[in-house]
Amino acid sequence: MLRSVITSAALALALGASPALASGGAHLDKQAWSWDGVFGSYDKAQLKRGYQVFHDVCSNCHGLKLVAYRNLKEIGLSEEEAKAVAAERETKDGPNDEGDMFNRPGKLSDRYISPFANDQAARVANNGALPPDLSLMTKARVGGPDYVYSLLMGFADAPEGFKLGDGMNYNKVFPGNQIAMAPQISDDLVTYADGTKATADQLTKDVVSFLNWAAEPELEVRKSMGLKTMIFLLVLTALFYALKRKIWKDVH
Ligand code: HEC
Repeated sequence: MLRSVITSAALALALGASPALASGGAHLDKQAWSWDGVFGSYDKAQLKRGYQVFHDVCSNCHGLKLVAYRNLKEIGLSEEEAKAVAAERETKDGPNDEGDMFNRPGKLSDRYISPFANDQAARVANNGALPPDLSLMTKARVGGPDYVYSLLMGFADAPEGFKLGDGMNYNKVFPGNQIAMAPQISDDLVTYADGTKATADQLTKDVVSFLNWAAEPELEVRKSMGLKTMIFLLVLTALFYALKRKIWKDVH
C-alpha cells in the first residue's frame, strides 16, 4: 500500500517536472548547459558570443530591460565597448533647467533601451504581435533554457492540412504551433569575434546561455554559497555527534 503511494507520488513528481509538458506536450530538445549541476558555471566566452547574437539580431525587436549596460562588463565587454553599445540608442531624460524633457544617448547606468517606444509601436512593427522582453524569458517558460533553445530551432514547414494564420510561422514547440516571430537562426548569422564557427546550433546555444545569465546573473554565487552551506552543516553535524558521544559516554 505504502509502496504504491510512494511510487505514484514519485511518478507525479517526475511528470510534473518533465519538460515534455512544457508546451502542450511537444518534446523539448534537452541540452547540456555549462551551468548544469552542483559545480556548473557560466562559460564567459559563450556569454559574450551569445550577447553578440542578442545585440545583432534579437535586440532589433526584443527588450532586455532588467539588464543595465554596465552589467555587460561582467561577461567580458570592456568599459568602452559597453559605453558604445549604450550610446547606440537614445532615451528620454529630464526635466532640464527649462523644465523640458529631452532625449540623450544611453549611458552605462541605463537599463538596456528597448527597440520600440512603446508596446503599440512594437505591435505595429510586428504584424500585431508583441515581442516580449527577454530579461526573464528562460525563467518564465516551463523547460526554461531548453524551451527557448527548442523554440528557436523548432521552425519547420507546416504539416499538410495545418491552417497557418496570415504572417504566422509554424513552430514545433510554441503552444498552438504557430508564432508571429519569423525563424531567426541560420548558419553564419553573425561572425564571431573569437573565431568560433557560427552554426545554427552554436548560435542558439550561445544566445540562450546569454539569456540565462540575464535572468540569473547571480547563479554562480548561489551555487557556491549552497555548497559552502552543505559543507558547514556536515562539519557541524560531525561536531555535534562527537559532543553527544562525549556527554553520554558514561551512561550505559
Ligand atoms: C523581427 C522581430 C523579431 C526578432 C529579430 C526576434 N524576435 Fe523573438 N519574437 C518576435 C515576436 C513578434 C514575438 C511574439 C510572437 C507571438 O506571440 O506569436 C517573439 C517571441 C519570442 C519569444 C517568446 C516565445 C514564447 O514562448 O512566448 C522568444 C523566447 C523569442 N522571441 C526569442 C528571440 C530570440 C532569442 C531572438 C534572437 C535570436 C529573437 N526572438 C528575435 C519578434 C522577433
